[in-house]
Amino acid sequence: MFNGCGPDKKEIAVLIYDMEDPFIKGVSDYIQDYDTKVYDIVYYDSQKSQIVQNKIAEELYEKGVDLLVINPVERLSSYVFVRKSLQEEIPIIFFNREPLKEDLEYFDDVYYVGTDARESGLMQAKLISEGLNNDTKNLGGFDKNGDQIIQCVILKGEQGHQDAEERTKSVIEGLEREGFKVEVLHTTVANWNETRAYRAMHEIMSEFGDDIELLISNNDAMAIGASKYLMDNGYFGVEVDGVVTDIPFRIVGIDGLEEAKLLTQKGYMYGTIINDGKSMAEAIMQLAEYVLENDDEKLQYDLVDNKYILISYKYHSNE
Ligand code: GAL
Repeated sequence: MFNGCGPDKKEIAVLIYDMEDPFIKGVSDYIQDYDTKVYDIVYYDSQKSQIVQNKIAEELYEKGVDLLVINPVERLSSYVFVRKSLQEEIPIIFFNREPLKEDLEYFDDVYYVGTDARESGLMQAKLISEGLNNDTKNLGGFDKNGDQIIQCVILKGEQGHQDAEERTKSVIEGLEREGFKVEVLHTTVANWNETRAYRAMHEIMSEFGDDIELLISNNDAMAIGASKYLMDNGYFGVEVDGVVTDIPFRIVGIDGLEEAKLLTQKGYMYGTIINDGKSMAEAIMQLAEYVLENDDEKLQYDLVDNKYILISYKYHSNE
């Protein structure tokens, strides 16, 4: 917890589900960059525990704050906060982990800033398809067994997380829509986590190694973990002029983490879709002003149904 309290400033409490998640840490750093002359912004790490997060929230309701910005640990538990906030008249901006619609609608002063996860899966499919030169037959030379079907493995984020479920579905749907035939050899849940993905690759490679033509990851951290496993175990060729010469198959991620962009530049990853954490933080802070000052002049994002702000994704590839 870190802050800079002053007597007259309004207090915003930001509850993060896990400060060790690199994408979320990025969003929280961008919020911190915000000019805080007007507000005291205090951060709390829930350390991936809903119990810890509930306890933090309980203390905050007790003490009283002006606004809660919550990245819930379990999005289906958000109703507890919504009901309490209605009682205590403390507005909430949820972000990144989406509460149920009925929970958001329970109290007017509850909002959600996130993304359209389906968009990211479809964009990932487009990135893959362009990388294969839209060549549905030979897969741009990546059809190892010549069956004109993409054999792929999926690294999935947390079960039940709207982004993991939707990305997993829509990336396949997108590829099929582009005219590709896809066979999912295997899906592993690695909870958005680099180390979990690194470890999972051991089994994946021993079971499916030679058959894999594409590795689709729901986020960059897991794609990075997989790339590192393959690097450490000699699956890549040597680097020439900073670019790897031989790859076992292509790896795509989502988030646009700096490390993923670097791996993409060097050819270890094929590309990533940028999850725009900077705009997410900006939207949260503009919405905070809208909620706290009743001032919509600075709100540059569409507030859909007076509830939702959805931030668009962008492409990043090495081409
Ligand atoms: C996703 C992001 C993941 C992870 C997750 C946490 O939007 O792509 O990397 O940060 O949110 O909820």
